[in-house]
Amino acid sequence: MAILDILVYPDPALRAECSDVTEFGDKLKKLVTDMFETMYLAKGVGLAAPQVGIPLRMFVADWNGDRHVIINPEIYSSEGAERSDEGCLSFPGIYEDVTRPEKISIRYRDENGDHHDAAAEGFLARVFAHETDHLNGRLMIDHLSALKRTYLRKKLEKKVRSA
Ligand code: NI
Repeated sequence: MAILDILVYPDPALRAECSDVTEFGDKLKKLVTDMFETMYLAKGVGLAAPQVGIPLRMFVADWNGDRHVIINPEIYSSEGAERSDEGCLSFPGIYEDVTRPEKISIRYRDENGDHHDAAAEGFLARVFAHETDHLNGRLMIDHLSALKRTYLRKKLEKKVRSA
């Protein structure tokens, strides 16, 4: 097991276009294990591969003790809208209201390559939507106003410089 470095905004790798996972072997299983370890240490509920500098379409999540390994996800329908507090391990210490769907339907593969079709609602739907955004180079901050974006970018740049 290994703890991976979590990239912090505005690291350009967070904007990477991610490719589908095509190899479902031991290397992928090790990455899944490392991503869970890294996420638990950072006390996050979700972590996407591009956040650790790996441009692959996959993320891990743990909500209420349920572990989710989501590979090559496609959110093919969504319903409703809910505005709520959201954080991200790439925006340490920042929590902002973001509007997300109340319910989603998602197709994905797991670390064995098996196909799944699932529904999620409430907080889990929010996590899945947030993490799937990461795989498209889209970040929490993109859902906020331009003014708020500029303010948060300056705040995080200052934090990176003083680290
Ligand atoms: Ni995030």
